[in-house]
Amino acid sequence: MTPTATASAMPYQTAPMRLSVAPGAQPGPRIISMANQKGGVAKTTSTVNLAAALKERGKRVLVVDLDPQSNLTMSFGIDPEHLEQSMYDVLVHRLPISDVIHHREVDVAASSIDLAGAELALSAQIGRERALDKALAPVRDQYDFILIDTPPSLGLLTINAFTTSTGVIVPVQLEYLSLRGLVQLESTLQMIREHLNPAVHIEGILPTMVEARTIHGREALDLLQANFHDLVFETRIKKSVKLAEAPVQGGSVLSYQPDGAGANAYRALAEEVLSRVE
Ligand SMILES: Nc1ncnc2c1ncn2[C@@H]1O[C@H](COP(=O)(O)OP(=O)(O)OP(=O)(O)O)[C@@H](O)[C@H]1O
Ligand SMILES: [Mg+2]
Repeated sequence: MTPTATASAMPYQTAPMRLSVAPGAQPGPRIISMANQKGGVAKTTSTVNLAAALKERGKRVLVVDLDPQSNLTMSFGIDPEHLEQSMYDVLVHRLPISDVIHHREVDVAASSIDLAGAELALSAQIGRERALDKALAPVRDQYDFILIDTPPSLGLLTINAFTTSTGVIVPVQLEYLSLRGLVQLESTLQMIREHLNPAVHIEGILPTMVEARTIHGREALDLLQANFHDLVFETRIKKSVKLAEAPVQGGSVLSYQPDGAGANAYRALAEEVLSRVE
């Protein structure tokens, strides 16, 4: 098995005037999808806490909940059942995304269970893969980072996320490592590069819920590094009950337990992300 993931970041520059942007340059925010079609690998947890850590570094951050489970929305203390409008209306009915952005620890574009119907509703529309890209256009200049939490599948919602993203962070749980799943994810990205968004690439693979002492965990990490080399972040997110408790309090672990190991791990991840993209 020889995965072909490469991290060739496009040049990033902010131009004073739109018209003066050189061809090929990428103005605007870094847009990062948090994706892995495997469920329960800490996509949402990593979206919440990386966003909070980037905010702490003075970045302007929007998170977009693209998962009908709405865990990201709930993690910021927003009740999806009481939302009148959500990402479903943005994607399917072209409601301005600013109408579903809530100002919390970071800005949150909220979703609800309605979003489960979006793939079907979008499937008949021309430009169905670009609905999110279009929706973000009016607000993208207001942010330095837009992080998108995706559902555990490689369906149309995740494809919308990849189509508008500059990079993808792939959280993996070493205990249940699926190299085959990672290869499938990379081949989906290859198709997106060919047809929809030539720039999108894996920004990094993030080991989560790490239990350093188990032999199996170490073997899985070796296997990951042997296949994906520098794409594996140096930061490892260890198992921590505080990371599971924070969303119940309606925010990140950086606000729930600012000096804890979980908060520091996501700060370290933010440093790595900043050093890779800037
Ligand atoms: N480092 C950690 N230590 C302990 N528990 C964690 C850690 N990271 C995440 N969790 C918990 O594991 C569960 C799954 O995490 P999370 O919801 O972030 O995964 P996900 O990939 O978004 O899942 P899904 O695929 O269902 O969207 C949650 O209950 C979360 O609180
Ligand atoms: Mg999730």
